Amino acid sequence: MVRAAWGSRVGFILAAAGSAIGLGAIWKFPYVTAQNGGGAFLLLFLVMVFTLGIFIMIAEMAVGQISQQSPVGAYRYFGGRSWSIVGYIGVVCGFLILSFYSVVGGWTIFYIVKSFGDTILTSDAVRLKAIFDGFITDPVEPLWYHAVFMALTAGVVLAGVQKGIERVSKSLMTLLFFLILVLIVRSLTLPGASEGVMYFLMPDFSKVNAGMVLEAMGLAFFSLSLGMGCMMTYGSYVSNETNLANSAACVVGLTTAICILVGLMILPAVFAFGLNPAEGSGLTFIIMPAVFSHLAGGQLFAILFFFLLFVAALTSSVSLMEVVTSFFIDEFDMPRIPVSIVMAILMFVVGIAASLSLGAWKEYTFFGKSFFGVLDYATSHLMMPFGGIMVTLLVGWRAWRPVAARLALPDGESPWWWRVMRPFCRYIAPLLILLVLLQNL
Ligand code: TRP
Repeated sequence: MVRAAWGSRVGFILAAAGSAIGLGAIWKFPYVTAQNGGGAFLLLFLVMVFTLGIFIMIAEMAVGQISQQSPVGAYRYFGGRSWSIVGYIGVVCGFLILSFYSVVGGWTIFYIVKSFGDTILTSDAVRLKAIFDGFITDPVEPLWYHAVFMALTAGVVLAGVQKGIERVSKSLMTLLFFLILVLIVRSLTLPGASEGVMYFLMPDFSKVNAGMVLEAMGLAFFSLSLGMGCMMTYGSYVSNETNLANSAACVVGLTTAICILVGLMILPAVFAFGLNPAEGSGLTFIIMPAVFSHLAGGQLFAILFFFLLFVAALTSSVSLMEVVTSFFIDEFDMPRIPVSIVMAILMFVVGIAASLSLGAWKEYTFFGKSFFGVLDYATSHLMMPFGGIMVTLLVGWRAWRPVAARLALPDGESPWWWRVMRPFCRYIAPLLILLVLLQNL
């Protein structure tokens, strides 16, 4: 079988950015940052992104591109049989993430539907919170939306790499970017907004604690789609001429820019409308309707915003599903269509438990967390950092030569950051991640 490939370098960058930019930047980043006190956490996040994030992005893409295989095969290619276990863990990680990711993806569809009515166009934060809480704790309604989201994800993956992912990614992300810019202007000009800007941008280091460092690291992994082989899989569809380092830098830069812009869009409004910044996972869904209610043509903006948020989530969920399905395609030569369908159904079932754990099954907790929280914690705080350790070790110790050769400039010269990358992959990154993990035990 001929391996699927991207149509162009731009197509690859857009698809990788489409994977990275999603609920992580627009749903998770603002509420986690707000919960952790704002500015100082933002700084920690940026440090994680521009040290670990950028090098792990390059490492993953390069390993995928050279081996032309998805994670299990890629680890085996460079490290032999025992390393392929890391790939398996990545596949499981992708499965678990998508299970709860699709639940939140379903919330975005619910809010598109809600935007057509006028109940959410109010600046009454208490009422908006009640709508959100009422919906996510309902035992039945979120499951329908979760099913629709999962089915659409599977639908795109069924269509294959070229026709499915690339086309969707190319078109709508630019529109989202401009919409966010417009919404920032509205948010910043609300009375009382400046307090939110200060909260978001002024670091207060007295708030920093050990848990926050792990939180920032997990969020960086999640937002950049790192640590489970997602970028490896996308890298494996890249032809050999493509310059990876530039592509990786573009993806990291774009995603981080969106995170910061989203922070500027949401936090000022949180303060303007008197919502508690530590509100939690409803922050984006609760506060944005309040912003729309203060905007001419607000309903139209609401529909457009939630639709584009849904598209952003879909291009990310597709990348997760692609990791899971390409594993079965590459390892067992199974056909794409049945694999996608079966996996979608299994993830849907796990997602049902995740959704119910927010409402009907609230009393069942593990380590003080709902099942939803456990899935989130186990993936972002344990599995992805583990994947980050392994991929840097792989590149630093087993795959340095081919990776270095691949990353050389067209004239054979090595780029300036080369010298940094090897010791970083060999020692610094694995130790740093390990330290952050251990500190939390
Ligand atoms: N980065 C995506 C987001 O922010 C989610 C995602 C897609 C992801 N693929 C991933 C997270 C792989 C971790 C690993 O919405």
